[in-house]
This record gives sequence, structure tokens and C-alpha cells, in this order.
Amino acid sequence: MRRFHLQPGGALRGELRVPGDKSISHRAVMLSAIADGRSRITGFLESADCLATLHAFQAMGVMFERDGDALIVDGLGRDGLQAPRAPLDLGNSGTSMRLMSGLMAGQRFDSRLVGDASLSRRPMARVIEPLTLMGARIDGQEGGRAPLEIHGGQVLNGIDYTPPVASAQIKSCVLLAGLYVQGTTRVTEPGISRDHTERMLSAFGVRIERQAHTLSITGGQALQAGDVAVPADLSSAAFFMVGASIAESSAIMMPGVGINPTRRGVIDILSRMGADIRLHDERIQAGEPVADIEVRSASLKGIDIGGDEVELAIDEFPAIFIAAACAEGTTRLTGAAELRVKESDRIAVMADGLSQLGVEVSVADDGLTIVGRGAGAVFGGGRIASHDDHRIAMAFAMAALRAHAPIEIDDCDFVDTSFPGFLALAAGAGLQIEASEVSS
Ligand code: S3P
Repeated sequence: MRRFHLQPGGALRGELRVPGDKSISHRAVMLSAIADGRSRITGFLESADCLATLHAFQAMGVMFERDGDALIVDGLGRDGLQAPRAPLDLGNSGTSMRLMSGLMAGQRFDSRLVGDASLSRRPMARVIEPLTLMGARIDGQEGGRAPLEIHGGQVLNGIDYTPPVASAQIKSCVLLAGLYVQGTTRVTEPGISRDHTERMLSAFGVRIERQAHTLSITGGQALQAGDVAVPADLSSAAFFMVGASIAESSAIMMPGVGINPTRRGVIDILSRMGADIRLHDERIQAGEPVADIEVRSASLKGIDIGGDEVELAIDEFPAIFIAAACAEGTTRLTGAAELRVKESDRIAVMADGLSQLGVEVSVADDGLTIVGRGAGAVFGGGRIASHDDHRIAMAFAMAALRAHAPIEIDDCDFVDTSFPGFLALAAGAGLQIEASEVSS
């Protein structure tokens, strides 16, 4: 087990090259695998989660090749995937499992999707239900958990579906299954969620229409291979945005970061708290808005967060909670029950860690109230359990910048699921971080 050791204090400075976007990298592999022709993906995130997706498609006959820093994918066409010989192991990756359930439901062959202990606890009924309505046959474990046994060769029909929660993963699962149905599939979003699947399907030549909150896709369309330039991941950049905001004398620049309007909640939330975040050279790269993000230290104030803003920053709350603890005044988050079913229960786990470092926190079913401590060293030292959750580990690493004693964080191997190279990048920027291997 990898343990992070952090010395208190320091500042973040310099230009930071944050690796590629996880959500977009998954989709780039999936869509190029079922496209006709050769795709070229640059900026692909070689994290454990995205490699799990890549290996699953390799197991179904798709050829991937490296060409310098590009990933070349020879697509097999919409109906060209081959039956895998073994279960598809998707590790820790909820995005792989939920999106691939949709794709696998449309195949002629059976498949079995498995994951690690954390993924096997996460809710999959949310994809089994709509796919079953479409005519798919899927056997899950008790309570709708993985492993999922997906029976191929079913005739799927288009449905009109409104997911019970705003979720890009549910929406994308149904849209991807929609490629394999007779007729049209409609998904009405109960709230905004990231739209990378829609953007990339369009870029691959698929007609997908939006009317107000409803997306429609007609089955039987072919995908045409193309080039995908994956932007740097805003969710990874978020740790440094928080770190640079809370640590005095910090000034960082992160080039080429995705600022898709359905993802940029963290920029808006931190800005509302008083953060000094500037976007430079806003541009469109392969259908996705990107910018160079500059962040300087600032005095933050506590705010209320809720409503639509929640899904727009759904993966960034562990980092935002660290910012809230350093703010003047109280921060209240509501309407965020989904945080309880991420890689860990991020409400409970963050509340435990914050209290352990001396921060006053109270927990509700759907959120958290954090009493900010304002200026100075706001965190004590101690050992934090990350509960095998990459974002918990990276968030608490940033807390060290405003701590008055060393912080240790357990179970940091999972940082590689989204952010390989985090430690080197963070240390290069000024975080006093080291790792050791300890027996678990
Ligand atoms: C993701 C969607 C989000 C997010 C996850 C990645 C995606 O989940 O939390 O890390 O790539 O579609 P939900 O859409 O289920 O909230």
C-alpha cells in the first residue's frame, strides 16, 4: 500500500501540465473502437481507469498502437467487436462499467463485466433498469451490483427515458445502447450532466439531437473514425486550483484544461468563494472548450452550494471541501446525495478526515456544513484514511499547504486511477510530498 507523507506549509508555483481528461479518454476509446476506420487520440489519459477500458476493447479484438504521443485505434465498426474469452475487468472504473453496459447490451455475444471491491459495491440498477426496458437481458448481483452478466443477441427497442438522477453515466449508457436499437431512443435529463458523449458522438458523425432537456438518437447509424485531442482534466486541475488558492504566495498556470460548461462548476464555485482564477486563450479543441487556467492565492469566504451547481462539480467536492475549511465563514452543500455513491462515500469520508484534522463539520444525508477557519494554519496533523478513493487522497494532500503538522494519507495507490504522475507534478510545484510503500 502506498502512503503519502506531507510536510506542512509551502506554496504552489509554476506551469503545471495536467494529464488528459478521464471522461473524454474513456469515450475516445469506446467510440473509436466501434467506428469505421483509424482514429488518432492525442492527450489520452494513461490512468488505471482508462487503461481498463482500453484493455476491455483489446479483449474484444480492437488493435491499439502507439505513435509518438498519439494512440492509434483501428475501429472494428459498430458490429465488429468479438466475444471476449474472459470477463471484462473494469477495475475501479464506474464510467467504464456503466457506459460499456450500454454498448455490451447491443452485441450479439454474451459478456461479463467485473470490477474491484469498490466498484462491486456501487449501484448498477440505474443502468440495468433502462437497458432492461429497451429489451436487454442483464443479470446483476443482489441489489443491482456488479458483476453484470449481459446476454447478447437481444432485439433492443428505443425508449423514452428520464433517469431518476442527473447522471452522465446513465445518459451515456442509454445513448450508446441507442446505437443498437430499432427506432429512436430519447433521454430526458432531470438536471444538467456532462455532455462529452453527445459531443463526441457528433464528432464521429452520429446524428444526435437535443430539444430542451431531451436527447434523441436513432439506431443503426455508423460511426466514422476521426482525431480526438483530449484536453487536460479539469477534475485533476481542481486539486491545484484549490492548493494555489489556499497557500499564500502561490501562482500557477495550467495550459489546455477542459472548461466544458457542463463540467466547470469548480471554477464558478471557487470564484464565488473569492478565488483568483483567470482563464486565458479560451478556444475549442476537438469540439471541447479549453483554456489556460491561472490561479493565484486569495482569501476565500464560505458560501452556500446547491441545485444545478452540484452535478457541474460532482467530482470536485473533496477538493472544494478543503478550500471551504480555509475560508472565512461557513460553507453549506445541499442536494449532493450522489456523493455517497462515488468511489467512496465522499460525504462521510471527507467529514471524518476533516474532523480528524480539527475542522468543525456537520453531516446531512445530502451534504455537509463546514465551518471555515479563515487565515493561518487551519489543519492539524494526522493520518487520513483515503478509503481507496483517489480524489480523497489528492484533496487531503492539498490540506498540508495550510497545516501546522505533518499529514499522512493511507491507500494512495488509487491515485493512479485518474492521475498518474500526481506526486511528481505536485512535488515539482512545491507541495512537500513523498510516498512510501507500507504493508497493508
Ligand atoms: C462521469 C460522470 C460522473 C462522474 C464520473 C465520471 C462520466 O458520474 O462522477 O467520475 O465520465 O460520465 P455521474 O454522471 O454518474 O454523476
